[in-house]
Amino acid sequence: MSEEEKKTLTIRKKEMLAPTTGKKLPSKEVISDLTCRKLIQEATKAMQNSYAPYSSFQVGACLLAKSKKMYTGCNVENVAFSPSNCAERTAFFKAVSEGEREFTAIAVVGGKKGIIRDYCPPCGVCRQVMLEFCDPNAFFIILAKSEADYWIYPLSDLLPVGFAPSQDL
Ligand code: THU
Repeated sequence: MSEEEKKTLTIRKKEMLAPTTGKKLPSKEVISDLTCRKLIQEATKAMQNSYAPYSSFQVGACLLAKSKKMYTGCNVENVAFSPSNCAERTAFFKAVSEGEREFTAIAVVGGKKGIIRDYCPPCGVCRQVMLEFCDPNAFFIILAKSEADYWIYPLSDLLPVGFAPSQDL
């Protein structure tokens, strides 16, 4: 990272601005630092179970339900490629299949061969699955490089103008 980039990052962190949207991040009262760290820790553990023989890109997620229960997930790939499932959707489908319908936040980590070098933002399909169950202004996505280095985004920042269940189908 260049000196200029480091300076910009420091300014952003001080002002609590999200790196891509430039919007103010939700206050720590919405979701505590301790909770974020726990979710990142569990997501990192879940990443070890990733089944990714085709991409070698391992992803782990930890979803926090309003019930306070946590549901982890990893990506599960398939030789036919399209049946593959992302870590976030694995966590959501596990939780929904256990009866959960309301969620607070999800932490996501990932990297080639399980080495986390960058943030791992959820794909469009996973964002859409999140929108099915979550209020986009009250559900938070934690993108982490480590327990100490993370950004929090409301789903509405990562999926603005989404096709939501409120649509009159
Ligand atoms: N992947 C996830 O599990 N979550 C993401 O947020 C991005 C991508 C998986 C899908 C595939 O198994 C591998 O990462 C490479 O795209």
